Amino acid sequence: MDFTGRDFLRILDFSEDELRYMLVVARKFKEMKRAGQNHKYFPNKNIAILFEKTSTRTRCSFEVGAYDLGMGVTYLDPTGSQMGHKESIADTARVLSRLYDGIEYRGFDQSVVDTLAEYSDVPVWNGLTDECHPTQALGDFMTIEEHFGYLKGLTLAFVGDTRNNVANSLMTMSAKMGVNFIACGPASLATSDEMVTKCRPIAEKNGCTITVTDDIRALDGKADVIYTDVWLSLGEPAEKWGERINLLKPYQVTMDLMNRAKPTAVFLHCLPSFHDLNTSIARDVHEKYGLSEMEVTDEVFNSERSIVFEQAENRMHTIKSVMFLTLWEGGNK
Ligand code: CP
Ligand code: NVA
Repeated sequence: MDFTGRDFLRILDFSEDELRYMLVVARKFKEMKRAGQNHKYFPNKNIAILFEKTSTRTRCSFEVGAYDLGMGVTYLDPTGSQMGHKESIADTARVLSRLYDGIEYRGFDQSVVDTLAEYSDVPVWNGLTDECHPTQALGDFMTIEEHFGYLKGLTLAFVGDTRNNVANSLMTMSAKMGVNFIACGPASLATSDEMVTKCRPIAEKNGCTITVTDDIRALDGKADVIYTDVWLSLGEPAEKWGERINLLKPYQVTMDLMNRAKPTAVFLHCLPSFHDLNTSIARDVHEKYGLSEMEVTDEVFNSERSIVFEQAENRMHTIKSVMFLTLWEGGNK
């Protein structure tokens, strides 16, 4: 396996063994961090992290991961660079790769991160696009494996807006890891046929299934993991809230929905989450549409079955693993 110099743009670009190895390295980094063991392997490297959409977890995971590896970090926010308005993506990539050893990018079209990677001489890491969120899926599978002790044969049900970036990466990762995937949500927001067509042969090879359905009874007695995400993703217009609420309210993760899954099932969410009224967006939605909880109830979010904060922490360990493996030039890992 050779990761050195490679980009991390989508889960599909990596083999099953490579993805498993990324999880092994992430676990090792988690142990090292817990033990207070120094792992500043790259004292002479620097990275740039570019965000055209807001972020808490992904930004902080890249920053802390980089600091732990001994690297310097430059953060560019949506207004902080010329990229796109005054300088092309290709030229930005050519400039940044003269200065930095790695580039993270979060934005809209997948084509932007793909172009950055094409013109960059250093690894480019996808920190979320409209199409996918590959570092999220890695962190999620680390969390699931830690909890159950294994992955193959488990069933992960994504409930809600099943065509979104997080769901797409989870479907791909499930197919690669031999995990049965259920995409459960309204037909008008169903995951694209193209995604399913790409993932099904991979799932078949790895002995697992992909189910796309609008019937929540598909979860009955089957799901080991119930996963949901916001009903409106970054970049989607606020006018869509009314339509989304109507479509997705039947798929809200309540205790009743959790009880459809296996008794041992856990709850995951990429976060941020609207499970109460402690955010300005949730309060606006409440005022307009009367809802005090959205994709998940506060009861489920704060229950013992919810492992969302372990999941959030694992973003950092897995992102560190991706940076380490793609930047390492020192022979055997
Ligand atoms: N899950 C996730 O990517 O969170 P941020 O948007 O805060 O980075
Ligand atoms: N689907 C969400 C994920 C956020 C981490 C979004 O794109 O906003």
